[in-house]
Amino acid sequence: MAGQDIHILGIETSCDETAAAVVANGRLIKSSIVASQTKLHECYGGVVPEIASRAHVEKILPVVQEAIRQAQIGPEQIDAVAVANQPGLAIALMVGVTAAKTLAFAWGKPLIAVNHVHAHLQSAILEADSIDLPAVALIVSGGHTNLYDAESALDLRLMGRTIDDAAGEAFDKAASVLGLPYPGGPSIEKIAGEGNPRAIRFPRSLMTNDSLDFSFSGLKTAVLYHCRGQDMKGANRAASMSRQEIADIAASFQAAVIEVLVRKTRRAARQIGAKTVLMGGGVACNGALRDAMEVMCKKERLTLLVAPKRFCTDNAAMVASLAYYKYKAGQFAEMTLEPKATSD
Ligand code: KG4
Ligand code: ZN
Repeated sequence: MAGQDIHILGIETSCDETAAAVVANGRLIKSSIVASQTKLHECYGGVVPEIASRAHVEKILPVVQEAIRQAQIGPEQIDAVAVANQPGLAIALMVGVTAAKTLAFAWGKPLIAVNHVHAHLQSAILEADSIDLPAVALIVSGGHTNLYDAESALDLRLMGRTIDDAAGEAFDKAASVLGLPYPGGPSIEKIAGEGNPRAIRFPRSLMTNDSLDFSFSGLKTAVLYHCRGQDMKGANRAASMSRQEIADIAASFQAAVIEVLVRKTRRAARQIGAKTVLMGGGVACNGALRDAMEVMCKKERLTLLVAPKRFCTDNAAMVASLAYYKYKAGQFAEMTLEPKATSD
């Protein structure tokens, strides 16, 4: 009905966060509940898909119930149920997809399928009044490092992506080599604050002059060589290093990742004559990255819109927010919707 708010329930289970949120008109967050599984996966040093899936099964209904309770609305006021059905761990996505299909069917509401990586971008524009186009969007997460030419929420053209490790994955792997706790990104950022980013000159892979693709596996290997020696025959020295040595490696590693992310974003912005840079995804929590991106954007006279930290990592508000634009465009999913490990 004209003039009435559109409330969408979003569900997110693509990796290790069980999340549900109610968002009105794609922008007003009525509730956002995130049950993190970090504690369950910590001792394995990474996400174990079977454990993730089982935990999603346990948490999904309480998390959805809490999202609806905090939004202070009843199911009858929900206009659609949205779910991230790709990309991610198939058996984790399956839980969210099944829950969303069941609720949509039981409540007689339309179902909307959302791409998780595209949804990350939504977090960056939640609080923006308007966006000056063209815009370049950098999504940096544990699974993705993607650069888009963003015409609108639904119109994203992929300009570059990682050809091996994602930026967050590189943080997690480097942290593991350094004996720092999982997840690696926040651990590296914390100790990097005590280190010298110029202590070690780690490689910056920029590929060819105009490439917008990323490669972080060489950097990860360089950290490993630094700790074990070039022939990789030595033991990992990280265990016997001083806190200062670890901090210097972490700071130097972080500086290398950030330099590449910022330079490629600048390159993409120049290629399309962008006026705005959008940034989201777990790695966008990183304060040094936010600062460096800000400095670059000021120099290039670009407006920078970064997701608030609590919406950088996985959440369902971004899912419900993107789903609003699909709702308006009449892009609904069938009840035969399946999870997909990779993006369409
Ligand atoms: O977006 P996200 O929650 O999940 C995926 O969709 O992958 O991102 C998680 C990733 C992890 O690799 C984590 O180490 C990284 O984001 N991360 C960070 C920081 N906080 C989380 N990386 C660097 N600095 C941080 N402060
Ligand atoms: Zn994510």
